[in-house]
Amino acid sequence: KVIIVDYGSQFTQLIARRVREAGVYSEIHPCIVTAEEVKAMQPSAVILSGGPSSVGDKDAPTLDMGLLELGVPVLGICYGMQLLAHNLNGSLGSSETREYGPADFTMLKETPLFEGLDLSSPSRVWMSHGDKVKSLPDGFEVIGRTQTLDIAAMANEAKKIYALQFHPEVHHSEDGTQLINNFLFKIAKIKADWTMSGFIDSVIQQVREAVGPDGNVVCGLSGGIDSTVVAVLLNKAIGHRLHCIFVDNGLMRAQEVEEVSSYLREHFDLNLTVVDASERFLSKLAGVEDPEKKRKIIGYEFIEVFDEEAHRIDNVSYLAQGTLYPDVIESISHKGPSAVIKSHHNVGGLPETMKLKLIEPLRELFKDEVRKVAMELGMPDSIVWRHPFPGPGLAIRVIGEITDERLEILRKADKIVQNELTASGWYRKVWQGFAVLLPLKTVGVMGDDRTYEHVIALRIVDSVDAMTADWVRMPSEILERISSRIINEVKGVNRVVYDISSKPPSTIEWE
Ligand code: XMP
Repeated sequence: KVIIVDYGSQFTQLIARRVREAGVYSEIHPCIVTAEEVKAMQPSAVILSGGPSSVGDKDAPTLDMGLLELGVPVLGICYGMQLLAHNLNGSLGSSETREYGPADFTMLKETPLFEGLDLSSPSRVWMSHGDKVKSLPDGFEVIGRTQTLDIAAMANEAKKIYALQFHPEVHHSEDGTQLINNFLFKIAKIKADWTMSGFIDSVIQQVREAVGPDGNVVCGLSGGIDSTVVAVLLNKAIGHRLHCIFVDNGLMRAQEVEEVSSYLREHFDLNLTVVDASERFLSKLAGVEDPEKKRKIIGYEFIEVFDEEAHRIDNVSYLAQGTLYPDVIESISHKGPSAVIKSHHNVGGLPETMKLKLIEPLRELFKDEVRKVAMELGMPDSIVWRHPFPGPGLAIRVIGEITDERLEILRKADKIVQNELTASGWYRKVWQGFAVLLPLKTVGVMGDDRTYEHVIALRIVDSVDAMTADWVRMPSEILERISSRIINEVKGVNRVVYDISSKPPSTIEWE
């Protein structure tokens, strides 16, 4: 495995993903990890990430020099490179201007890091830094430069320590993947053995061992890909001793509950109970307009219902959850918990009230890997590529008060959005696309009559991890079609608007 020491760069997760895409298992650890701890993990290589600090700053994270004595290759990226220079007697200076964006990288030496690349022409790379290495540390030589940086890459080949000032992990660095692969395979000589089928086998085995021959596991199913993959994986491991509970909170999209549950029962023989709790949720939500209150009510109610159902099952000792690796990293981050922007309801809460042990079979995986597992398990595209859907469901897309009538309008409008995105081939190209019902009415004219009706907002965004997002520049014909279909087919709507805000400063959902 490869250990990535995280100095706080926004790209650290990308490094881990690139390594895994190469078929090598990687883990991210906060930079307070000690060399002793890393040693115990028996890594085949160590990567030092970038970070926002300046090495000279008062509280800047430092390098545990023991990491260089583990006998495994080390790759420093950006801040990682500066740390190496600073700690090995090189010197740093600040660049005249912060360099952010593309640069042309010229490779100066035939090293295993550059194998397979054309040294005679520069490679486009992505820079993001304020400081630079001014003089080389002991034992190092320059292996690459750019127009503005004399030392854009350096190496101590005898000790197998390499460093790059730019970010090979981002897509904009055109040879980045090759550089990372060369580090893994030519320098660290790691075998690529991280595959999804291997992962599935090992999860099944671990779950069987942990649960034993007669233990029971409960699992909440939402219809989204994460919980569905968890359910199918555990079902493979322990069959009907996995009890799946699908809480219908009355806030799902049109036909969603029926479609998902019948599919899972038929194709995977899942032991699945659908609990119709819609009355209960909707009555608690009556008259509530505040988004955070809605979320709290839904989160609380969900736990109650789930708890009641789980208590009907004997001998339950485990709760299975679809926690993914980014949540795990977030919660152990050295930066501490980030500010609560919105309270997401599937995090925390349950285990405390239920006193169950947790099984989180996906906690080592990134979203794209979960999709690969789903495909490996034989799930259809409609589940594998399903857009994320928030736990609180349509409650946070009916802005303001939730009523049956308003939910129905939104369901009809949303169905048109989903249909048109699918029919035009755009569903797969975007991260999320949905309709939002606004809490206001506007004037329109239909035939000879004045109308005074609801407004639907369309939200279609691109993202890689939901942390940042941008609105999609959809072809106007598709927007036009969605708009005219909604206005013509959904009674009570006379206006459709398109949301052109990015995240940040907006968020993907409206509440
Ligand atoms: P925001 O609106 O915060 O959304 O930009 C980021 C992503 O998270 C989804 N989302 C949720 N998912 N429970 C969930 O499981 C929630 O409470 C929740 N709120 C937002 C949202 O759809 C987007 O993909």
